[in-house]
Amino acid sequence: MWLQVSLVYLSCLILSSQSQAPDQASLHRSNDPAGRCHYIFSVASPEESSCSGSSIKPEMDGVLSRLALLEALVTQLITGADRGAGTGVGANHEEGLQEAYAQVTRERNQLQQDKEHLDRQIQELQGRLAELNKEAESLRQTPCLHTHTSGGTQHEIKPASGMYINPPYSSGNGAYQEMKAEVTEVPAPHLIFEGNHNLTGCGKLLSVGDPVLHRKADSITGKYGVWLQDPEPQGTYYTNKTVWRIDAVGKDVRQLFAYEDIDQFSRGFPMKVLVLPEPVESTGATMYRGSLYYQRKHSRTLIRYNVTSESLVSRVELPQASYHGQHPYSWGGYTDIDLAVDQQGLWAIYSTNKAKGALVISQLDPETLEVKKSWETNIRKKTVANAFMLCGHLYTLASYAAPHTTINYMYDTATGTGGAVSIPFKNKYRYNCMLDYNHAQRKLFAWDNFHMVTYDVRLGRMSDDSS
Ligand SMILES: *[C@@H]1O[C@H](CO)[C@@H](O)[C@H](O)[C@H]1NC(C)=O
Ligand SMILES: *[C@@H]1O[C@H](CO)[C@@H](O)[C@H](O)[C@H]1NC(C)=O
Ligand SMILES: *[C@@H]1O[C@H](CO)[C@@H](O)[C@H](O)[C@H]1NC(C)=O
Repeated sequence: MWLQVSLVYLSCLILSSQSQAPDQASLHRSNDPAGRCHYIFSVASPEESSCSGSSIKPEMDGVLSRLALLEALVTQLITGADRGAGTGVGANHEEGLQEAYAQVTRERNQLQQDKEHLDRQIQELQGRLAELNKEAESLRQTPCLHTHTSGGTQHEIKPASGMYINPPYSSGNGAYQEMKAEVTEVPAPHLIFEGNHNLTGCGKLLSVGDPVLHRKADSITGKYGVWLQDPEPQGTYYTNKTVWRIDAVGKDVRQLFAYEDIDQFSRGFPMKVLVLPEPVESTGATMYRGSLYYQRKHSRTLIRYNVTSESLVSRVELPQASYHGQHPYSWGGYTDIDLAVDQQGLWAIYSTNKAKGALVISQLDPETLEVKKSWETNIRKKTVANAFMLCGHLYTLASYAAPHTTINYMYDTATGTGGAVSIPFKNKYRYNCMLDYNHAQRKLFAWDNFHMVTYDVRLGRMSDDSS
C-alpha cells in the first residue's frame, strides 16, 4: 500500500518538475495489460528545445543527462515494485525506496535550480541582444567619420597618436598625421597587382575586404574565442574543410569544437568536441599540420596537441615571454602570446620584460616549439589591437573597436625592418578579439564580439615597394 502511494507521489513530483520545463522533456505513465506501470520519457532534441537565440547547449546537456539519471531511478523503482508485488515489501526494500526517493527529490531540486539559472541567462542574453540592436541602430544613424584629408578617420588618430611607434617617429601628433597622410596618398592604381602574387601564395597585403559573417555565438562564453581552419592538414579524418572553434570565455577553457565544414559550422552542429589536456589562455591559439598550438592558461607554456591522436605532443616554455596581462594587445584579455601560421611556418607574437613591451616575433620549430629566430620590432604590443603573419611579414591592427580602422604597421622578418602602413579594415561588430591569416584560404579569420567572420585579402607583388 505504502509502495503504491509513494510511487504515485513520486510520479507527481516528477511530473510537476517536468511541467516547469515543458520544452525539455515529458513523462508519460501508462498501465500495460499485465497491470504493470510503464514510464516513458521523451526528451526533445536540444535544437528544438532551445529558445531562439540562446541555445545554451552544455547546460542543456547537463539537464538532459540528469533527466536520464532520473529515468534510471524510476526504472529501478518500477522493477522494485514488480518484485515487491510478488513477494511483499521487505524492510530493506523500503529503506532502498526511501533513499531513492530522497535522491529523486535532490535531483528535482537541482533541476529546478538549473532551470532558474538558465532562465536568468536567457534574460541576460535577451538584454544583450536588445542592447546590440540598439547599438546597431544608432550606428546606422551616425554619419561616417571618414576625413580623407587627414588620411585617416578620427577614430584612428586618437588611439594611435604618438603611442605606437618608438622614438624615431614619435615626435608628436602632427608628425604622425603627416606621415600617415603620406602613406595614404600613394595612388591606388599603382598598388594593385591582383593575381600577381606568386605560386607560394606570397605577396604583400594590399587591401582587406568587408567582413563575411559565418556564425554568431549564442551564449556569453562566445564573446571571445578562436576559430580556424588548418591551412596544411595532415591525415584524412580532419581536412582543410574542418572548422575548429574554441569559446574563450570561462575559468577553465578546454573544449575544442570540430565541425565537418563551414556549412555545419554556420549551422552550429559540431562533429566532435575534443577536451584539451590543459586549459587555454585567451585567443592566441592556432592550427597547423594536424596540431592545435596554444598557450597554457596562466603560464608562458606553449602546448602542441595532436587533434588526430587527441594527445599532447609537446609542452615547452616560450623563453622570457610575458604572460597573463603583462603585455597583452590593447583590448586586454590576457592576449600576451599570440601564435600564428603562414607560408613560412609557425610564429609567436608576444613581448618580454627585456623588450620592455615592444612587440617581439619568434619563428618556432613546429615539431619541438623551440625558438629558431627572434626579431624585436619598434612597435609597442599594448598599442595595437591584434597582429597576424603573412609571408614572414607581421601586420598589426590599430583598433579593436573602431568600425573603420586600419592595419597600421608592417614588419618584414626577411629584412628586419618595419614601418607604418595604412590598409583600411572594418570592425563591424566593434570588439575584435582574434585575427589570424590563413594562407591556404587566403583569408583573414576574426572573432568580433560573438561574430565569427572572414575577410578576403588582396595581395600584391612581394618585390613591389610602392615607390
Ligand atoms: C581543400 O583542398 C583541395 C585540394 O587540395 C582544394 O581543391 C579545396 O579547394 C580545398 N578546400 C578548402 C575549403 O580549402
Ligand atoms: C598525430 O597522431 C596521429 C595518430 O596517432 C599520427 O598518425 C600523426 O602522425 C600524428 N601527427 C603528428 C604531426 O604528430
Ligand atoms: C615569391 O614568394 C617567395 C616566398 O616568400 C618570395 O621569397 C619571393 O620573393 C616571391 N617572388 C616574387 C616575384 O615576389
